[in-house]
Amino acid sequence: MAILKIARMGHPVLRRVADPVANLTAPEIHKLIADMVETMNDIGGAGLAAPQVHVPLRVVIFHVPEHRISGRPDDPAQPLTALINPIIEPLSEDMELGWEGCLSVPGLKGAVPRYARIRYRGLAPDGSTIDRSVEGFHARVVQHECDHLDGMLYPQRMTDMRLLMFVEEGARYPIDLATA
Ligand code: NI
Repeated sequence: MAILKIARMGHPVLRRVADPVANLTAPEIHKLIADMVETMNDIGGAGLAAPQVHVPLRVVIFHVPEHRISGRPDDPAQPLTALINPIIEPLSEDMELGWEGCLSVPGLKGAVPRYARIRYRGLAPDGSTIDRSVEGFHARVVQHECDHLDGMLYPQRMTDMRLLMFVEEGARYPIDLATA
């Protein structure tokens, strides 16, 4: 296992559309996922996409820690999930504004509108199918990570760039998104 270097905004690997994983049994894929898990556990964060470690493949990992859950029924804490070749489908037109950060955009956070409820499907590393309908933080982290697979970073999803800021300043001058 290895801790991988994180690509930062401006690196072309973060702008391209990642390729589907063609062969889930390839040992390189399992090594990639193990290294991504080790990297995320080392740096922190709720998720990581393969392009962020300079690998243009459709692989994401994420988890929903207890302290991030919204309390809504389909937003339980979720242990680490590795998702391959994911597809996302919004379950309603409802959008929610929430704070996001990204290891590829260090030091900043921004308020990003996301679909409130989604269904996502994809493959687990053992080849089994993952098919979940989720909301709240779980829906947000999956949309954020899967955007990385299409060359999209969260600032490009923002609708009010005044809500892009340094994390430290955001802590000093808190903003309530319900009234922003
Ligand atoms: Ni990110």
